[in-house]
Amino acid sequence: MEKIETKLIFSTNPAYYDKAIRKMSGVLDEIPVINFIKNFRKSIAIVSLGIGTGRELEWLDEIKNISKIIGIDFAKSTLKFCRKRAKKCKKKIILLKDDMTNPVKLEKKVSKIKEPVIYISLINTLGNFSSKERELVFQRTKDLMKKKDRLVLCLYKRIDKAIVDSINLPSYLRPKLKKEKVKLAEIIEYALMPIFWEPLLKKYNQLPRFWYNEKGNNIVVYMAEKKVFISHRFSKEEIKKLHKKAGLKIEKLAEGKAMYTVISKI
Ligand SMILES: C[S@@+](CC[C@H](N)C(=O)[O-])C[C@H]1O[C@@H](n2cnc3c(N)ncnc32)[C@H](O)[C@@H]1O
Repeated sequence: MEKIETKLIFSTNPAYYDKAIRKMSGVLDEIPVINFIKNFRKSIAIVSLGIGTGRELEWLDEIKNISKIIGIDFAKSTLKFCRKRAKKCKKKIILLKDDMTNPVKLEKKVSKIKEPVIYISLINTLGNFSSKERELVFQRTKDLMKKKDRLVLCLYKRIDKAIVDSINLPSYLRPKLKKEKVKLAEIIEYALMPIFWEPLLKKYNQLPRFWYNEKGNNIVVYMAEKKVFISHRFSKEEIKKLHKKAGLKIEKLAEGKAMYTVISKI
């Protein structure tokens, strides 16, 4: 399987990344996730897949029916940052250094939980995997789930036509084909995200390089020869296919401004 050094981006400067992610448009599309969790009648446990700096703990900690929160992430420095935030929370929070493609520690923990478990993965975390890894994460998460559990995902939608049209380039740089315009718009949009610049420049003294990978329809970010980031945007059809392949049933698919919120069960 292709190796993507995603850890490098998220763990280079967790404090900077924590601030930067709040400004991303997708954050506003989390409201259906918050409402879904709030409206759950029974006591529930939450598992955040890719908890990062624990931005979501701020709202999860305020929801009454949550008895405990488990967060997993594979990046040590982001978990360290998250641990400090968790100490200030009222709820029981368990943080595990674990890999979403092979969540061994998580499996042990959730096997003992009796109440429904809501697995969440926010702000397009699933889009940061190669297509093979993505299928694996779906499968492994489904294998953890029991009948009463739910999976809630926030996934980036394909780029908005208005954004594509708003990119105004000099005529000699303007692509003729619509497909090329879309690719360019995605590259420019990613290249403008602050998470790729200041921390990487400071630590590695290098500029990232942005590329559009035709095969997987992914934006790929390189630092020298290393693939340090991948971002995929989803279509509704693709989301349905991924769920079907893993044996998950979609209960709700809501369309926000930048992201889809998908709620599924086994
Ligand atoms: C987009 S961030 C989301 C962070 C946080 N949940 C939020 O919404 O602000 C994705 C997180 O997933 C983590 N991650 C990526 N691949 C992972 C993997 N294979 N296993 C565990 N964590 C992973 C990254 O380290 C990063 O912290």
